Amino acid sequence: RITARIDRPVVLVGMMGVGKSSVGKRLATILHWPFVDADDEIERSARMTIPEIFESYGESYFRDGERRVISRLLAEDATPTVIATGGGAFCNPATRELILERSLAVWLDSDVDTLVERTARKDNRPLLRDGDPREILGRLREERAPAYSQAPIHVISANGPHTQTVNRVLEGIA
Ligand code: S3P
Repeated sequence: RITARIDRPVVLVGMMGVGKSSVGKRLATILHWPFVDADDEIERSARMTIPEIFESYGESYFRDGERRVISRLLAEDATPTVIATGGGAFCNPATRELILERSLAVWLDSDVDTLVERTARKDNRPLLRDGDPREILGRLREERAPAYSQAPIHVISANGPHTQTVNRVLEGIA
């Protein structure tokens, strides 16, 4: 049984398609911690899908709900949990501050080819609908890198099985 020496939640941040949910689930299993996907929680509380929230209320409304949900997940008395966040969460200054204060943030990073390949598997990302995904993902990755790099742990998520990424995260947080 592998145990982390840390006793705070681990929050995975990084671009859409980098593997935050897949890596997070595996990590949680290994640590015997619960896993929560913040995007799923947002959909549950809003009783709407993320594309519906974007369409009906716009991105800034979504960012606000996202911050509230993450704040609830990181409440002082919460048990250690692995949390996967949506790609833009850590780029919102208020949400980022919260995450940095109350958890150990891990930035998962991949090259654009990998992001393109992985995001093509699902059509549930409103930000990729209005243009060429490769162009959008490349631009967002550049724009967001300064925010993501504020996470204390940086792990490369290579194209291929997630096992290696999970092991790198474990080494990072141990
Ligand atoms: C977003 C990423 C999505 C979701 C929303 C916005 C982003 O989550 O929160 O579509 O701004 O990068 P994933 O990173 O899980 O795809």
